[in-house]
Amino acid sequence: KTVKRDDLTGAITVAGVDVNKIAEQHGTPAYIFDEADFRERCRRFKEAFGGADVYYAGKAFIATAIVRILVEEGLFLDVCTGGELAVALQGGMPPERLGLHGNNKSTSELSRAVEAGVGRIVVDSFDEIDRLTRIARDTGKTPKVMIRVTVGVEAHTHEYIATAHEDQKFGFSLAGGAAERAAERILAEGVLELRGLHSHIGSQIFDSSGFEVAARRILGLQAKIHEKCGVELPELDLGGGFGIAYTTQDNPAEPADLAGDLMRIVKQECAALHLSVPHLSVEPGRAIVGPAMFTLYEVGTVKDVDGIRTYVSVDGGMSDNIRTALYDAAYSATVAGRTSTEPPILARVVGKHCEAGDILVKDEFLPADVRAGDLLAVPGTGAYCRSMASNYNHVPRPPVVAVADGASRVIVRRETEDDLLRLDVG
Ligand code: LLP
Repeated sequence: KTVKRDDLTGAITVAGVDVNKIAEQHGTPAYIFDEADFRERCRRFKEAFGGADVYYAGKAFIATAIVRILVEEGLFLDVCTGGELAVALQGGMPPERLGLHGNNKSTSELSRAVEAGVGRIVVDSFDEIDRLTRIARDTGKTPKVMIRVTVGVEAHTHEYIATAHEDQKFGFSLAGGAAERAAERILAEGVLELRGLHSHIGSQIFDSSGFEVAARRILGLQAKIHEKCGVELPELDLGGGFGIAYTTQDNPAEPADLAGDLMRIVKQECAALHLSVPHLSVEPGRAIVGPAMFTLYEVGTVKDVDGIRTYVSVDGGMSDNIRTALYDAAYSATVAGRTSTEPPILARVVGKHCEAGDILVKDEFLPADVRAGDLLAVPGTGAYCRSMASNYNHVPRPPVVAVADGASRVIVRRETEDDLLRLDVG
């Protein structure tokens, strides 16, 4: 690991750089990106899934510098809006290594994707199939598409529920027959190139049981399409959702173990159904970027509330990490800039926003001498924190500082009040 505590000073260092120095140079709050760790995770996924294509899910966190690293590491990239597509192209991702998702892609997003030559568009509704077919006819191009199938499996952390049909906005239902009809329509029109089926069952999943049910169900559809239309679809995407440990209580499976389970199930099922094994792809976001970042805050007010607990306020909050407030997500925190021999006290780490629910870490033991000016690190904030950040209370969004080989560089600069004021007209 590149993140450690210095034996002498007790301060956390990242790739050899002391957090005190990072804070001095770049200010707080800041997202600190451990580049070597990110690259290592890209490689681990690629290795684990062997010949499968790994589409990094850009919604977890995307920036042009990230896209450049993904290009170097040979990953593919999943984007789900025109905005993410713009970053991907600007960052130099070859368009054929891009996949476009979304339940409500606009005609202009679809046109841009077709024009750019995006490698695959994951279609999500009959309406979209029609619009894309029109665009293909108008431009004379043949977009490659996958069908997003709702397989009736919902997985979160270590639990999953398999139901007959799902009441949600994404994809074509398998149980209701919509997915099959979508395939028939695309194949009958012959204007779009149907590459395969796609399933994404949830996020922060800890084991392979939900994926296994999903793979079995979707391969059942693959067999049906083969039987009815005489086509064996060449590709299959099993989505993302691989979980990470946010606290010491979490115990997610290793990518290699999940990959092994998944590939075994797909092979077994294909053999049983007399299908050839399709070319696999997956779309991990959180598991690649989540652990590769932490947020560095500075402590301000420390308040003991009637001896119940101590509220430790930092200079950020729900605008840079909404996950605790939104999902009741668990995080940890540690005093990062120094060591302390004081006994631990029960603390709650809160932000600076005008809202009682502005909590970053619900319960954490921090040293009793935690005080204003201390640096506080919250690990595991790489996924869905900067990407879901807001300007609530007109707080500018923090920068992302990449650290590698003893040096730090800004890859997303800090927003300023001027940036925010520029949007106001009149
Ligand atoms: N593929 C598709 C089609 C997805 O919808 C998602 C996530 C992913 C891949 C990547 O999933 P991951 O490997 O990162 O779990 N904001 C929530 C998570 C929303 C996930 C949405 N879709 C959170 O902060 O937990």
